[in-house]
Amino acid sequence: MTGPRVALVTGGARGLGAEIGRQLAQRGLRVLVSARNAEDAKRAADRLGPDALPLTLDVTSPRSVEAAVLRALGMTGRVDVLVNNAGIGIDGGQRAVGVDYRIVRETLETNLLGAWRVADAVIPHMVTAGYGRIVNLASNLGSLSLMTRGEQPAYRVSKAALSALTRILAADLDGTGVLVNAASPGWVRTTMGGPEAPRSVEQGADTPVWLATLPDGDKTTGGLFHERRALPW
Ligand SMILES: NC(=O)c1ccc[n+]([C@@H]2O[C@H](COP(=O)([O-])OP(=O)(O)OC[C@H]3O[C@@H](n4cnc5c(N)ncnc54)[C@H](OP(=O)(O)O)[C@@H]3O)[C@@H](O)[C@H]2O)c1
Repeated sequence: MTGPRVALVTGGARGLGAEIGRQLAQRGLRVLVSARNAEDAKRAADRLGPDALPLTLDVTSPRSVEAAVLRALGMTGRVDVLVNNAGIGIDGGQRAVGVDYRIVRETLETNLLGAWRVADAVIPHMVTAGYGRIVNLASNLGSLSLMTRGEQPAYRVSKAALSALTRILAADLDGTGVLVNAASPGWVRTTMGGPEAPRSVEQGADTPVWLATLPDGDKTTGGLFHERRALPW
C-alpha cells in the first residue's frame, strides 16, 4: 500500500464527526468529510486542510450512498476506514408504549440502516484490499445490560441494533483484514448532547479514532468500547 489511508466519516462536518475527522487527519489519514449539504461538507473539509475532501452524503438515501462511495473511490481510489458517525436522537419525551412510529422509523433509517448501507457499499472494496476499519458510533443508551430505564426508546433500540450489526459484520468479515467495532463516546457536548454534557468532543472522539486506526495485524473486532475499554453489551 502506498500513500495515506483514506477515512470516510459520515456526518463529518460538525459535532463528534468533525472532531473524529480532525484527529484522523492529525494522524496522517486523508479524510473524506461528508455532510448532507455540499457547502457544509466543503467548509468542514477546508477547515481540515488541503488533503481533506468534501463529500455530499445522506445515509438515508441509497442513491446518495451509492453516488458518494463511487465519488470517494473516484477521488482517492480506496476507502480504508469508515466511521459510521451520522446519527439522530429525536425521541426525547417518548416512551415505548404510545410511541410515535414515524419517529421510530426515522431513527432506525438513519442510525441503523444508514450505517448498514454505507458499510455494505464500502466493505467489498475493503475486502479486496485486505484491509479495513469500520467504527460504528454506539451509545451507553444502547447497551442492553445498562437498559434499566425507558426514555428514548427509538434511539436505544437503534443503537442496540447497531451493536448487533457490529457483531454480525465482524463475524462475517473474520480473517479478511476488515475489523468492525462499536464505540460509545459517552455524553458529549454537541448539538445532540447539549451544553450540559460532561465530555468534550476531543474526549468523545478518542475511542472511535483509536478503533479507526488499529494497527496492521491487530485482531480487535466485534467489540463495544468506551474510553478504550470493553463496555458490556
Ligand atoms: N453527543 C453525545 O452525547 C452522544 C452520545 C452517544 C452517542 N453519540 C452518537 O455520536 C454520533 C454523533 O453525534 P453528535 O453528538 O455529534 O450529533 P450532532 O451534533 O447532532 O450531529 C449529528 C451528525 O449526524 C449527521 N446526520 C444526521 N442525519 C444524517 C443523515 N441522514 N445522513 C448523513 N448524516 C446525517 C449530521 O450531519 P449534517 O451536518 O448533514 O446535518 C451531523 O454531522 C451519533 O451517531 C450519536 O448517536 C452521541
